[in-house]
Amino acid sequence: MTDPLVMATVAHAKAMALLHGRAFAPRERWGADAIGLQLALPGAFGWIASAGGMILARVAADEAEVLTLAVDPTVQGHGLGRALLEQAMVTARQRGATAAFLEVASGNAPARALYAAASFAVVGRRNGYYPGGDDALVLRRPL
Ligand SMILES: CC(C)(COP(=O)(O)OP(=O)(O)OC[C@H]1O[C@@H](n2cnc3c(N)ncnc32)[C@H](O)[C@@H]1OP(=O)(O)O)[C@@H](O)C(=O)NCCC(=O)NCCS
Repeated sequence: MTDPLVMATVAHAKAMALLHGRAFAPRERWGADAIGLQLALPGAFGWIASAGGMILARVAADEAEVLTLAVDPTVQGHGLGRALLEQAMVTARQRGATAAFLEVASGNAPARALYAAASFAVVGRRNGYYPGGDDALVLRRPL
């Protein structure tokens, strides 16, 4: 993965929403307004891969949370997800986070494999949290 990553500003909200919409089912898509609002929150940041991916995360005190991660299906499997996740972890560490958390659906095998390979471990479970019946797994990684 040699494509440069760009730090997102609120001005990127529309482009990020388009990327998000390509990766997620309609009912899970985040619009530009929602992404812009997230990016404007204290501690929030995002990164964009011009080849077709985006990540949004937030640091509060010494904890980081990955809010969403999306890679365009046409370029999945080429390292963009891993690069975006690792860049977000570097940013979170630089901003004082000592651990990162995220939530993933138990049935989302690609995302679970990515997070496991990136040293995230399951620390919690919300049974039947998602509309399709999947559990929500809470994952943590020390930074
Ligand atoms: C999850 C997602 C972001 C992964 O992005 P990606 O760019 O395809 O992932 P990468 O190419 O960087 O893969 C990194 C690692 O993740 C794992 N992985 C990624 N896709 C996988 C798949 N389809 N099956 C199994 N493992 C997979 C592998 O461990 C892979 O490492 P490897 O290539 O050395 O085997 C992407 O599939 C996506 O956008 N999915 C839809 C949205 C989503 O579910 N987001 C996460 C919500 S929590």
